[in-house]
Amino acid sequence: MKVKRCLILDVILIKLHFMNTMEGQLLADRYLLKEEIGRGGMAIIYTGNDTLLKREVAIKILYPHLISDSNLMQRFINEARIIAKLNYRSIVSLYDIAEHEGIPFLVLEYIHGYNLRELYERLYKGERKPPLETALVIASIVCDAVAHAHSMGIVHRDIKPENVLISDQGDMKITDFGLAHILADTRITASGVTIGSPEFMSPEHISSSNISTASDVFSLGSLIYWLITGVPPFSADNTMSILTRISRNDYERTGKKGGIDDCIAGIVDKSLKPDPLDRYKDAAELSNAIHNVIDGFAPDPYILFKSYTTAPGQTARELAVRHNRIRYENAVAYIQSNRFEKALALISTILETGGETGDDSVDVSGLMRQLKYRKYKRLAISIMEIVIVLLLSAIIAREDYTGGFLNPSAAKSVPLTPVKPGIQVKQEPAAALQKKPKAPRKRSAPAGKTASQQVKAAYLHQPVKTAENNRKPDIGSLELITYPWAMVFIDGKYMGETPRFKTISLSTGKHEISIMNPYLKPHSEVIEIKPGQTLTKRINLNE
Ligand SMILES: Nc1ncnc2c1ncn2[C@@H]1O[C@H](COP(=O)(O)OP(=O)(O)O)[C@@H](O)[C@H]1O
Ligand SMILES: [Mg+2]
Repeated sequence: MKVKRCLILDVILIKLHFMNTMEGQLLADRYLLKEEIGRGGMAIIYTGNDTLLKREVAIKILYPHLISDSNLMQRFINEARIIAKLNYRSIVSLYDIAEHEGIPFLVLEYIHGYNLRELYERLYKGERKPPLETALVIASIVCDAVAHAHSMGIVHRDIKPENVLISDQGDMKITDFGLAHILADTRITASGVTIGSPEFMSPEHISSSNISTASDVFSLGSLIYWLITGVPPFSADNTMSILTRISRNDYERTGKKGGIDDCIAGIVDKSLKPDPLDRYKDAAELSNAIHNVIDGFAPDPYILFKSYTTAPGQTARELAVRHNRIRYENAVAYIQSNRFEKALALISTILETGGETGDDSVDVSGLMRQLKYRKYKRLAISIMEIVIVLLLSAIIAREDYTGGFLNPSAAKSVPLTPVKPGIQVKQEPAAALQKKPKAPRKRSAPAGKTASQQVKAAYLHQPVKTAENNRKPDIGSLELITYPWAMVFIDGKYMGETPRFKTISLSTGKHEISIMNPYLKPHSEVIEIKPGQTLTKRINLNE
């Protein structure tokens, strides 16, 4: 047994040595091996030359120790036939498969450039967080490629930054579709060793249960997380800890990291759901969700990515400003539909990302203050409403208890002064009470109205006629008509939006009115309200 194992090891070592010295050889009488360009979890990659078609190719020679079963070559051919059908702008083409002295190899389109991990390491070394917008642009291109494969029934099974290649011209291409499947049904060997990096694996990869398009969605979710934060969601010092974190779905939500919109954090969270049925069903669904977010600021991801590869900082800044502009427009739309919490979240994100919207007339901090003020005002009003309702119920309850304090017969039976223990209360005779129909109260109600009716009237804004109210009014009103719609601030307080906001009662004297529409120049002026008069103002913000 021991002898047999030694023999196998020897064969592998000989083959590995042979692979190390393969440069310059002609494979399958056609492909000239040039230099080694990389080693991954499954293979060694060489540049090569197709001597027949006279073109540069990449040659991927599988490690001999991964070739475990004798039917491999047949499986390899079957799978490669399917993968060869993938012909897409952002997918590396598979040209050919062949065998050299028992070792299978793939001939691929050669991408002269670098991979996504190398790009990120170059740009965002150390603590520097990658920009959100360009991360989403990259994510949309990767999802687009995987969505194409999914539409043809092909699952990638090994989505990770190393399999995203970028040419020197700024074209992005995804490679290694289905390759993991050729080698094994699971990425973890019987001895517990993973084939390649485990950080982007789905829980199904680990448990070797049904791998589906939703498994790729999970890996894409991990990749997007890495793209926007710079770290994979399930990172750890060793393979075992990474696998444990994936199995437990143990990751810190991107929403907690700041500067990331709720909808984007939601997309990542949905992709990383432990149950495949809770995720986007395939890359097309995920791609749609990403496009809904980025279409406003990155309508053509392929062109934007090209400019990102030549001017990363500038492209990222421009996209960030465009994104803030969209966030601002969405916040205004939320304000219009009274969804202040959503508006507040968007405005906070704009401020967290530097507050630039590319438009000097937009005052994000001002809007933030108004929103906060409005939030507290709403809270205060809610508290006041509760207090009034409680007061009202207390008064009604007391009235019911006394049977109506103007009811003389009720007054006969119920003492109006509460009886405190130890204090003697002098009871008036019933006859005497009958002579005095009005019960003695500190705040007496006007004739014909009970106290509760008064409070109710005040709450419903129905004026209670009193001699005081008949005095000359010290209020007037303002009627405001704007074109187009605008937010109205009076004396620095947000009052609402026209046309819903039209008329308001104001104390007499001078008031400052400010009219604001995010697309136009704001307007401010001081007006004077005269007693009992209505001042009508028509403001055209286009003038
Ligand atoms: N078609 C290709 N053209 C150019 N470079 C490639 C190509 N395929 C792979 N590479 C490079 O070789 C490296 C190793 O590739 P691979 O064996 O697929 O391993 P892995 O994807 O696990 O890193 C890749 O990260 C990439 O930088
Ligand atoms: Mg690869």
